[in-house]
Amino acid sequence: MAGWTKIASVASLPEGRGIRIEAGSHRIAVFRVEDAVHAVADRCSHAEASLAEGDLFDEEIECPRHGAAFDLRTGRPLSLPATQPVPVYQTKTEGGELYVLLDDREES
Ligand code: FES
Repeated sequence: MAGWTKIASVASLPEGRGIRIEAGSHRIAVFRVEDAVHAVADRCSHAEASLAEGDLFDEEIECPRHGAAFDLRTGRPLSLPATQPVPVYQTKTEGGELYVLLDDREES
């Protein structure tokens, strides 16, 4: 599965928290922040916790396991113990639907 892929309706996305969406082999943590939608791999770069289950602060997600924060726009870690970024997916919305740009990498 590669290319732009419809994964959800924008209206179905919760506000103020993340949601995990699986698309092929990709496990994606999706966050709706006001008018923006961010999507990152749903696997913390430190020890593989689900970022979709973390606490959302504006455009930062805090890992639920050890508390590392990541910038949802870039995937960069903002605090320890994580030192590596998480992959970021490009997103677009059309007709009320959310699309992510998938590549051929294996995520899960
Ligand atoms: S698993 Fe996310 S900070 Fe450790």
